[in-house]
This record gives sequence, C-alpha cells and structure tokens, in this order.
Amino acid sequence: MKHKTGLLVLFLFLACSLAFAQQDTGPIQLPPPQTDIGQPLMKALSLRRSSRSFSEKPLSLQELSNLLWAAHGINRPGSGKLTAPSAMNWQEVDVYVALPEGLYLHEVKGHRLEPVVSKDLRRLTGRQSFVGRASVNLIYVVDFSRVSRGNREDTTVWSAAGVGFIAQNVYLYCASQGLNTVVRGLIDKRALSKAMNLGPEQVIILAQTVGYPE
Ligand SMILES: Cc1cc2nc3c(=O)[nH]c(=O)nc-3n(C[C@H](O)[C@H](O)[C@H](O)COP(=O)(O)O)c2cc1C
Repeated sequence: MKHKTGLLVLFLFLACSLAFAQQDTGPIQLPPPQTDIGQPLMKALSLRRSSRSFSEKPLSLQELSNLLWAAHGINRPGSGKLTAPSAMNWQEVDVYVALPEGLYLHEVKGHRLEPVVSKDLRRLTGRQSFVGRASVNLIYVVDFSRVSRGNREDTTVWSAAGVGFIAQNVYLYCASQGLNTVVRGLIDKRALSKAMNLGPEQVIILAQTVGYPE
C-alpha cells in the first residue's frame, strides 16, 4: 500500500513538473500595446541616443509588448501593415528576442513570443560585455525565402534598410520611455546563427540591446 502511494506521489510530481516545463516553453501572449503613452515625437527625437550601460532589471510583459509593437507591430489591422515600412511589403525581417529565460521569435500577427531556444543566448548576441547583462537583446534577421523578386544585391540593401527602420522605431520608443538602447553590428554572426538554429536563407543583420539605465 505504502509502495503504491509512493508511486502515485512520484507520478503526480512528474506530471506537475512536465506541465510546468511545458508552460515554461510555450508561447507567451503579449498584452495589447499601449498606443496612447509616451513623449511627443519631437521630444523623443531630441532624447534619442545610444547608451551602453544597462541594469539587469527585466522589462515587464507590457513594456515588451509596447517595444515590439513599436518596432514592427501591425498598425493597420485591415491590411496587416506595420509600424515600419517594408520593401514590397514582404515583411521579411524577423525580430528575435533574447531574454534570460531563452530565445523567442516575435510572431507579428498574433503579437506573441514563440519559443525558439530554451537557453540564455544574450552573451552570444554581441562582442560587447553589456549584452550578457541587459535584460533584452533583439536580433534582426532577414528571411530571404520571403523575398520574391530582385537580385540578391538589391534585396540585401532593401532588407538592411528595413532593419534600420525597425531599429529606429526601437530607439524612439526607448527615448520616449526612459529606456537605454544601442543598435549593434559587432556580432559573431556565425556563432549566433548556429545557436539560433537559423536556416540557410536566414541572415542576421544587426542586434539591439534594450534595458533600464544602470
Ligand atoms: C549599423 C550600425 C551598427 C552599429 N554597431 C554598433 C556596435 O556594434 N556597438 C556599439 O556599441 N554601437 C554600435 N552602433 C551605434 C553607433 O556607435 C552610434 O549610433 C554612434 O556612435 C552615434 O551615437 P548616437 O546613436 O548616440 O547618436 C552602430 C550603429 C549603426 C547605425
């Protein structure tokens, strides 16, 4: 009898652990963005700057939602178009989010974070030491399988420009909300691409660190 109870307790423990583990690795639904907050545009422009000191304090889910919506969220639900322009509206730039708990892909249509790698990859997102400390690192990846026309030279320029618009949206959101940020090209792209399990058509363009000031 004792033996059976022990087994039952063990079974319940394993079932609960599995349920929690699944919850941990499941998609994270972001709350709707707050579109009526922040500084006026001219004030945000006057505050825009690169900063390289970050505290470890995490961003709330609401702040992550606002940040990602500002970056490239849908601002016209009828057409599904975004806050950042996109050549031919290919929407070929993906924003990956490296958090202490793992790497996520911002799924634009559902405005949620899809888990990609359940490891802390922040340190790998750049060659500067603050990247491993800041609570959020965004990685801008172009998926050339969504680019349907033009030669690679042209489309690479267009896609890189698309990343620039997204990065500037992030700069302005951060300026408006008192967050620090810096866009970064100093990345070991081969190592990061491998850690992110990217496919042959997916190319890392830039990364951007976001967090509270130290
Ligand atoms: C394409 C690009 C790549 C950059 N790469 C890095 C980088 O790897 N690391 C870094 O600390 N800053 C990087 N920066 C930020 C610049 O150093 C910064 O914008 C510049 O010093 C001007 O400062 P400001 O943004 O405050 O005006 C990059 C900026 C751009 C546009």
